[in-house]
Amino acid sequence: MQKREVLLEVKNLKKYFPVKNFFGRKVGDLKAVDDVSFVIYKGETFGLVGESGCGKSTLGRTILQMLKPDAGQVIYHGKDIANLPKSQWKDLREKLQIIFQDPYSALNPNWTVRELISEPLKNAGLSREQCDTRVRELLKLVNMNEDDMEKFSYEFSGGQRQRIGIARAVASYPEFIFCDEPISALDVSVQAQVVNMLKDLQQELGLTYLFTAHDLSMVHHISDRIGVMYLGSMVELGKSEDVFRDPLHPYTRALISAIPVADPKLGRESSRIPIEGELPSPMNAPRGCRFCTRCPHATERCREERPELREVADERWAACHLL
Ligand SMILES: Nc1ncnc2c1ncn2[C@@H]1O[C@H](COP(=O)(O)OP(=O)(O)OP(=O)(O)O)[C@@H](O)[C@H]1O
Ligand SMILES: [Mg+2]
Repeated sequence: MQKREVLLEVKNLKKYFPVKNFFGRKVGDLKAVDDVSFVIYKGETFGLVGESGCGKSTLGRTILQMLKPDAGQVIYHGKDIANLPKSQWKDLREKLQIIFQDPYSALNPNWTVRELISEPLKNAGLSREQCDTRVRELLKLVNMNEDDMEKFSYEFSGGQRQRIGIARAVASYPEFIFCDEPISALDVSVQAQVVNMLKDLQQELGLTYLFTAHDLSMVHHISDRIGVMYLGSMVELGKSEDVFRDPLHPYTRALISAIPVADPKLGRESSRIPIEGELPSPMNAPRGCRFCTRCPHATERCREERPELREVADERWAACHLL
């Protein structure tokens, strides 16, 4: 097999939010990302899944340094960008981009399309003419019209706005884009269009994606590999095909069994595994395995000792004592 090139290596990354009481005194830490390590290969789509609040957005934003990590490293082109002086950060900033969930609030409604897309280009030092040429190119790339340049973002539909957001994200030739639920806020009828556009651009521009969505079938469809998060940690990681066909971690099994199946003959309905109990607060995750309070197979060891994410089979990683 051809050796894959690592684009980003995340090592023991932590992002905690301080929790304060009514009087403004810190009473604890909300461990949104708690000691996460994994790599993202060049050119791949890495899908992140897990219940709402498990830390997907925080992980992506901490990798991009939009949030300052509390500990850990993010190695990109041999440099630890999590601990880099600001002066060295500027050139890298453009290479790591984000596409937001909500195209309505992500774009300033008082700006024209030209202004929105050329902002990152101006920051990179392009002249007005160079910016205009590039904006035209980019509009073409996302199947929009050159005449759209002078319009304001509020004049467009959700799908079109998301395409403006995409044009903006790819404007300065990035290598990596964190697509944080890029289609969740869109009409179902345009979701596939936007996903296909992202796929085409990935091929054309050699992009690497970190991708989140609540629609697991969609993540399955678009991702090469998948990471499953639970309470700030990665509990399973592997090739998308493997994880969906044969999930290893009890949490992943429950999550995937809940996907509605179009073909009733597959009979998945009957094997649906309910996830019992409430999601514990990330402020006080269980001491041992984070999933032990909801896991039907939990043992004494699971309640006492936290399992590490380890390679349990070829390219299959899971954090579970019972495997
Ligand atoms: N700026 C912040 N300040 C304090 N707590 C935060 C902040 N951002 C996120 N959190 C908390 O961190 C945890 C992880 O949130 P995050 O948004 O990363 O989850 P998520 O997996 O992206 O969820 P969703 O699927 O709903 O987008 C949650 O408990 C959330 O309330
Ligand atoms: Mg999120």
